[in-house]
Amino acid sequence: MSKPRILVARAVFPEVIERLTQHFEVESNQADVVWSKAELTEHLRGKDGAFTTGSDRVDAEVLAACPQLKICANMAVGYNNFDLDAMTARGVLGTNTPDVLTETTADFGFALLMATARRITESEHYLRAGQWTKWSYDMFAGSDIHGATLGILGMGRIGQGIARRGAHGFGMNVIYHNRSRLDAATEADCKARYVGKEELLKMADHLVLVLPYSAASHHTIGAAELAQMKPTATLVNIARGGIVDDAALAAALRDKRIAAAGLDVFEGEPAVHPDLLTVPNVVLTPHIASASVPTRQAMANLAADNLIEFFTKNKGLTPLNPQVLGKT
Ligand code: GLV
Repeated sequence: MSKPRILVARAVFPEVIERLTQHFEVESNQADVVWSKAELTEHLRGKDGAFTTGSDRVDAEVLAACPQLKICANMAVGYNNFDLDAMTARGVLGTNTPDVLTETTADFGFALLMATARRITESEHYLRAGQWTKWSYDMFAGSDIHGATLGILGMGRIGQGIARRGAHGFGMNVIYHNRSRLDAATEADCKARYVGKEELLKMADHLVLVLPYSAASHHTIGAAELAQMKPTATLVNIARGGIVDDAALAAALRDKRIAAAGLDVFEGEPAVHPDLLTVPNVVLTPHIASASVPTRQAMANLAADNLIEFFTKNKGLTPLNPQVLGKT
């Protein structure tokens, strides 16, 4: 019997391609060309499965052009690049990579929070530019992390990881808001108190966003929400671009309506709103929160395992729409 045909839409660890090749006829994109939607569709035509990343949009149009496709395994925990309803309607399984990246991403959220509050990149740029000529009492004075109030919007696995780091490691007072309240045992473990969104905005010294992107979470933080925050507050976004209105944030940072921001994700990335590049009080990183070598290996292997599991056992390890299983 011929092997199923799969597309690996972006470059990935060669050993993962090697593993996939044992099970599938693989077309890979090791040159890492970022294809347009039309190009992605062309490459997907006639494939039974796909290994995708958050930059590969799979929507109704792509699916209609590729009727043979049965599974898209995303190498990301977020899957807003999938039109999951359209996939379900066509019986196409979607999978993601939860759990394996939780602690690494929470580490990064905390690193970005610390860099933002303590003005680390801003001060490094100053030093590199040769501007450091003397000690000054207020040079790059920022805000404290220990003992401060940490607000978390979106209290899934990663949010809980950040809460634990803040509460147990830095003695922070942790408050959170989420669509649903956590059970009492998880709240106690995270030492986190549930509050309304408005209270979260008003009380947080540091606000970290960890909620998934959807039409409903678009611009969850805009001018009105920024206006409710403390002028001394910092804002960190490791969730998705589009959750923050980047133009409104740049204006708030410029006018010092909040103290600083740390952003790993951007609206329309890899483009960055030009105004964000002109304000000094923002730490900018290129969507690398899960980027430790072991975690990226684990994510790639989990996506590969989902493909293998699907074609050998008609199952997914981390299915997003398990209702399609058995119907394909
Ligand atoms: C990264 O943003 C992910 O969703 O895994």
